[in-house]
Amino acid sequence: MAKILVTGGLGFIGSHSVVELQNEGFEVSIIDDLSNSSLSVLDGISKITGKVPNFHQFDLKDKSKVQTFFKANQDIKGIVHFAASKAVGDSVKQPLAYYENNVNPLIYLLQEAARLEQVSFIFSSSCTVYGQADILPITETAPIQTASSPYGSTKQIGETITRDTCERHTNVKAIALRYFNPIGAHKSAYIGELPIGTPQNLVPFITQTAIGIQKELAVFGNDYPTADGTCVRDYIHVVDLAKAHVTALQHLLNSKQSSHYDVFNIGTGQGRSVLEIITTFENVSNKTLPYTIVNRRSGDVASAYADTTKANTKLGWTATLPLHDAIQSAWKWQQKIVNK
Ligand code: UD1
Repeated sequence: MAKILVTGGLGFIGSHSVVELQNEGFEVSIIDDLSNSSLSVLDGISKITGKVPNFHQFDLKDKSKVQTFFKANQDIKGIVHFAASKAVGDSVKQPLAYYENNVNPLIYLLQEAARLEQVSFIFSSSCTVYGQADILPITETAPIQTASSPYGSTKQIGETITRDTCERHTNVKAIALRYFNPIGAHKSAYIGELPIGTPQNLVPFITQTAIGIQKELAVFGNDYPTADGTCVRDYIHVVDLAKAHVTALQHLLNSKQSSHYDVFNIGTGQGRSVLEIITTFENVSNKTLPYTIVNRRSGDVASAYADTTKANTKLGWTATLPLHDAIQSAWKWQQKIVNK
């Protein structure tokens, strides 16, 4: 079975994708520098799949290490590139570190990919490229807006770099997946999200509040032009998202196109408000969640949810897991990591 490199394979989305790739029979090698992950994730993956992925710990900013890795692994058929920094707020504080970390490794990987005979490449992009779209649900043809943070900017640049590489080097075929809001954990609770410090994202903040790590949730604004006034997002179960990577990779591996670059929205197609997420959490956990409404968070858009028709029809992929399962799995995972 084809050998696949997963960068950032011990991170949140990366680890779930490694599981799904192994489940499909792929041989997985991980590169991860552990800057925002833990070696224990390797155990979690192996417990689920019964297979230990090859693991290489190094920083992809080290070009010579990237070159050495590829010299020894010329038989790689696919690269799924997750390794990147993702905290929007930090990216505003340290723009250069974000550009260095999110752009340089991508270039080094693509330089090596271009030297291989034939390789399929999946790039982790984000719905953040759309900003506040004028038309909802958002299709892939919606205009790309000026990024509201260096993080968002690195995703836009990353897509461009990947597209241009495919145009010039037709042995590299690529898909950029624009994720909406990934949440949840594997149902086994062997792997999940491990936020470092105070979580910036909604669902980890909710579960940490319910377990007593955070005092209460601050809901950022209830005066948006949405049904209940709180922001609307498209929350997708991380396992569905992981499966989208496998499907996209298989699509490229089977592609007969002479050159191939494409982008796909990966979401559920359903918008949910912050208050709906809180209510779902309360139903799932049988707990009352303490929260207060505070001012809007700068940079938040009112509403973003995907039109997933393109992924449904061209890739044959559809999100199948309900919101309830996603939140239940996030809660199970939170209880597990606190009680460890
Ligand atoms: C953010 C990033 C997105 C990235 C995603 C990763 C932007 C603008 N957003 O999405 O690019 O891919 O994280 O998961 O670049 N909320 C609260 N209280 C909280 C936390 C969040 O009310 O303590 C609200 C927010 O206002 C928002 C919703 O919950 O409406 C979701 O927030 P969050 O989980 O941070 O995701 P996004 O900002 O949508």
